[in-house]
Amino acid sequence: MLQDTSFAIHPGHSKKLQNSDYHDVGNVLEVTETANGATIRCEFANIGIRFYRDDIVRVVMNAFGSVAWKTSPAVISEPNAVEVNVTQTDDAATITSSAIQVVLQKSPLRITVEDANGTVIVSESEKGMGYKPTKEVICYKEMTEQDHFYGFGEKTGFLDKRGDKLEMWNTDVYAPHNPETNALYESIPFFMTLREGKAYGLFFDNTFKSTFDLQSSTNSFSFGAEGGQIDYYVMAGPQPKHVLEQYTSITGRAPIPPKWALGYHQSRYSYETETEVRELVKTFKEKGIPLDVVHLDIHYMDGYRVFTFDRDRFPTVEKLIEELRADGVRIVPIVDPGVKEDPEYPAYAEGVRQDMFCKYLEGNIYFGEVWPGNSAFPDFTSERARKWWGEKHAYYTDLGIEGIWNDMNEPAIFNETKTMDLKVMHDYDGDPRTHRELHNIYGLMMGKATYEGMKDQLAGRRPFLLTRAGYAGVQRYAAVWTGDNRSFWEHLQLSIPMCMNLGMSGVPFTGPDVGGFAHDSNGELLTRWTQVGTFTPFFRNHSAINTLRQEPWSFGEKYEAIIKKYIQLRYTWMPHLYSLFAEANQTGLPVMRPLVLEYPTDEHTFNLSDQFMIGSNVIVAPILQPSVKHRVVYLPEGQWVNYWTDEVLEGNKHHLVEADLDVLPIFVKQGSFVAHGEAVSSTAFENETLTLHFYKSEAGRSEMVLYEDDGTTFAHENGEFLKLYVEANVEETNVKVSVRSDGSYTPAWKQIQLVVHSGRAEDNITIDSELNIEIINK
Ligand code: GLC
Repeated sequence: MLQDTSFAIHPGHSKKLQNSDYHDVGNVLEVTETANGATIRCEFANIGIRFYRDDIVRVVMNAFGSVAWKTSPAVISEPNAVEVNVTQTDDAATITSSAIQVVLQKSPLRITVEDANGTVIVSESEKGMGYKPTKEVICYKEMTEQDHFYGFGEKTGFLDKRGDKLEMWNTDVYAPHNPETNALYESIPFFMTLREGKAYGLFFDNTFKSTFDLQSSTNSFSFGAEGGQIDYYVMAGPQPKHVLEQYTSITGRAPIPPKWALGYHQSRYSYETETEVRELVKTFKEKGIPLDVVHLDIHYMDGYRVFTFDRDRFPTVEKLIEELRADGVRIVPIVDPGVKEDPEYPAYAEGVRQDMFCKYLEGNIYFGEVWPGNSAFPDFTSERARKWWGEKHAYYTDLGIEGIWNDMNEPAIFNETKTMDLKVMHDYDGDPRTHRELHNIYGLMMGKATYEGMKDQLAGRRPFLLTRAGYAGVQRYAAVWTGDNRSFWEHLQLSIPMCMNLGMSGVPFTGPDVGGFAHDSNGELLTRWTQVGTFTPFFRNHSAINTLRQEPWSFGEKYEAIIKKYIQLRYTWMPHLYSLFAEANQTGLPVMRPLVLEYPTDEHTFNLSDQFMIGSNVIVAPILQPSVKHRVVYLPEGQWVNYWTDEVLEGNKHHLVEADLDVLPIFVKQGSFVAHGEAVSSTAFENETLTLHFYKSEAGRSEMVLYEDDGTTFAHENGEFLKLYVEANVEETNVKVSVRSDGSYTPAWKQIQLVVHSGRAEDNITIDSELNIEIINK
């Protein structure tokens, strides 16, 4: 019938529009110098170049209007005053700082970023940058055979992302998490490229769905987005560690977590009643298994209404929380963004009356189906809604709660697209944008609202926030767990490069669901996974409804004993881990690191996905397959000491290492320190003794900085911390150790021991310190 109407001549019926493909920006028409860079008018686009620091330059291309300098909320720093020089010839222009030269070839515009010596950092390939009439924007860069790629946030697959195509679109992926699963819960459009020992970073700050293609060509790669501008920052490195410092100088660093959040967390979808929670904690106590946190999943609520407790299931929740606290255990409840549509429910009624929910342009509230049924979603892109949401957390803090678990904040909705209608509008603090544009920052902004709200309510104590979704900068507010994995060995394997790349994306506080979330776990898998969990920055056992229970004792005594040993080991390592979190806060370096971060010129490390480092001197090489009791371990240059046996192993070599079920292979570099506390049953119970282990080398100088503070407040920001600068000098049989302390915090430990490993009986060990330190020569 339609054929009888004008529809018969619908333009869509004829052949494709001419010139519907990619256009580059064209020739340069004019270059104008600005305070921190330059603006460039091209035939088909406007470009802006702005230095943020001598070693960080931002490039913006707008193909449809003038350059917009507004950043996404990922960026928290303003450009520094950088001395910039602009020079021009007919063919080229150069914009230089003391560390970077941006060279513009004019016809057509192609941008090359070089270091101060003129060595190329990154250059555009033949195609340059441009757009499609669909408003997609793309930028093509050259790639050499030596290039390796790290970062990109939370992705499946191996460590080195060369050869992959990565999509950024926060997605609730219950299943599958496969090598071909591209978009997961977090989108961090940042990576670093390592080429012949040198690295640069590139952060593409575009919140639309974006794609990084390191697959389609062997000599170029591209990044692009469905809309917005090409807007990226080049960080000049030259070392991978510099890149992380540079990237986190603009997107921020993680606060030092409350110490309790570094303890062991037990979770389950769901511990449904107060009685069940009490029983659970009692069992941990009876069995002597350390525990700091119990998570409450959605069943704690009244009909899945956030900011409520079901009073039948949790009749005396205040008392429960108080009693557990006395046992050193805290409660972390889940809070999802969906607010149940129910006019008699205060959070909903208030949200509607005060105009806090996401709406269509035409004014009607957007509703989506989630656990509580039909629900409205706060517009976290608005300061007003964030404040409202933050204040609502007084409900939890008044009950004595100090940690929150944000889930479903992609946002996840039970429909075909898995998320909100892309036409929904966000206020974006008075600069309204569609959900299509801001989808990827919904979780980040919920994190901001929650973290800041909790911080206000807690009056000086540190909040803990766990999140599933996020964007660049998520580290400022939350720890990230890697969502709904399964109790598969394959998922244990993939969690390691995933967490390492999150670390390489500025997010230090990460971990998977230990034991696997969906599907049924088993004793061996849970044991091996707990061994890994001992050293993942976030350590939580979590499992899904209708799966086998997977508390540490669920699979019998044989496994329980080993699991207990490794949870205890986590507490033994606490002073060491805590110092690394303090380092992450200062430098942006992750706690859990790929070896390539420490050994960027060693090709064996480039794609090493089944080993990781804790800080700069400890290698963990877990067993990741069933029935396997040995594995190959790569040890880079230097000498390495087996943590369990003190056996010294030669570096620059692969070793075949035995590892019975109760052994997690750990190696410490000779000439370095490890700090230990005691295997207390919760971080609430203090260590009496601090033990500094010195893995002595034949000769030379070694140092470590041990960091300690009260673990719960922000007093450290006013100098109330303690740093121990530990240094050792070894010369033949003379081992001289000095320990100098700085800061006003008085630690809980009453004694310090120094254990010297690989020492000889004839060694003359001396200590220079105002502190009283006992020496043990092993
Ligand atoms: C989501 C979360 C999971 C949680 C469940 C119920 O699947 O990823 O961790 O247990 O929702 O709240």
